[in-house]
Amino acid sequence: MDSAAKEAYLREYEVLKKKGKPFFPYAVFKDSVMFMIVVGVIAFMSLMLGAEQGPKADPTTTTYVPRPEWYFFFLFELLRVLKPPELVPVATIGLPTVAMVLLLLLPFYDRNPERHPLRRPVATTAGIMTIIAMAFLTYLGASAGSPTEIELDVAPQYEAGKQVAAQSGCLACHQFGHNGNDGPGPELTHIGSELPAAAIERTLRNPPGIMPSFENLPPEKFNDLVEFLSSLR
Ligand code: HEC
Repeated sequence: MDSAAKEAYLREYEVLKKKGKPFFPYAVFKDSVMFMIVVGVIAFMSLMLGAEQGPKADPTTTTYVPRPEWYFFFLFELLRVLKPPELVPVATIGLPTVAMVLLLLLPFYDRNPERHPLRRPVATTAGIMTIIAMAFLTYLGASAGSPTEIELDVAPQYEAGKQVAAQSGCLACHQFGHNGNDGPGPELTHIGSELPAAAIERTLRNPPGIMPSFENLPPEKFNDLVEFLSSLR
């Protein structure tokens, strides 16, 4: 608001205050008119322009990758980064609640009368850090690989094994390129140069630690899987 507008507003406010116009119906009427205009414009636009609905839902798909809307990517990425399940409620409910309460209480703990951003270093820094953190998490969330697909380029004869790996749940514990979780298992992007095929096969049959055994895969799929893993160099 420039100073002329501000003065005009203050003058109008003084006059109105003297006349003693009550909130109801005067202000309520103004608000109602604006409310009806906004609703009218939205209704008109939805009737005239319609809503973008995306492709028709396909109930038989097995390859659909659920993704949040872009404005939730930062939360989505936070959940991808946080491994221990105990921490999930902290990230989804705890952190946003703390931030919200801090924002609500802002007028009580920030009594600084200064309004210029440069004279409010703490508030300005906190604001900028929040924006940077959210932008960074949004970027990471938007570029995260699919959780049900391995997007490494492999020679055609290893494609079958790649499919087996993608569909057998390895991604829940291992990372292949930028797909899958970073732990609890080690990254497998170059496993072929770290372990010989026989050792990979042994690991899949008698896995270490919490890893489940994949001995019961059909023999052909099992061999495809071992060949694919050995090809990762
Ligand atoms: C429940 C989690 C989990 C799943 C699912 C899982 N792994 Fe593992 N995997 C692990 C862990 C943890 C280790 C490391 C254990 C240790 O060294 O104590 C491991 C180790 C390995 C190793 C040995 C790596 C090395 O450097 O020694 C290979 C190879 C491997 N996994 C392949 C696979 C493949 C292929 C799949 C899917 C078919 C798979 N894993 C599924 C958790 C898992």
